[in-house]
Amino acid sequence: DGMWSAAQFEEEIRSPRTAALGAWTVGDSGDEALVGMCFTSTVLDEASLTSLAVHPRLRRRGIGEALVCESMARAQAAGAARFLLEVRSGNEAALRLYGRCGLTVAGRRPRYYRDGEDALL
Ligand SMILES: CC(C)(COP(=O)(O)OP(=O)(O)OC[C@H]1O[C@@H](n2cnc3c(N)ncnc32)[C@H](O)[C@@H]1OP(=O)(O)O)[C@@H](O)C(=O)NCCC(=O)NCCS
Repeated sequence: DGMWSAAQFEEEIRSPRTAALGAWTVGDSGDEALVGMCFTSTVLDEASLTSLAVHPRLRRRGIGEALVCESMARAQAAGAARFLLEVRSGNEAALRLYGRCGLTVAGRRPRYYRDGEDALL
């Protein structure tokens, strides 16, 4: 459900099942900043997107789509037969992005999130 603690990020990034992709900006003086990230976790032939976020000030520039498409391509190259994720039914931005990456809605998990919102699979 969206937010992970720092400890959860550390645990996830150390897992051998996890593939993490980042997007960085490079400033004039060469300073780098992480502005987007996408995590996937693979079990057998199933890859799951577990976290995706782009810095609020750098959205709508194709960073999210690039991260998801690249994650899907890498999962497929590594032998994954399916690419799964859960998304809040009201998260229009994410739903449209996933649709553009070729993902389709396969099911609904009613009241999946603590606040009662449904998840779309
Ligand atoms: C969802 C998120 C990762 C999208 O990142 P992004 O870099 O802005 O996405 P892109 O620029 O690659 O957008 C690709 C397409 O997705 C759709 N889209 C993205 N943001 C949208 C928005 N706010 N409203 C409607 N459509 C949107 C559009 O079709 C867009 O293409 P377009 O800009 O040519 O119209 C970003 O909004 C985010 O970090 N949200 C908060 C975290 C989150 O919801 N993560 C997903 C949890 S499952």
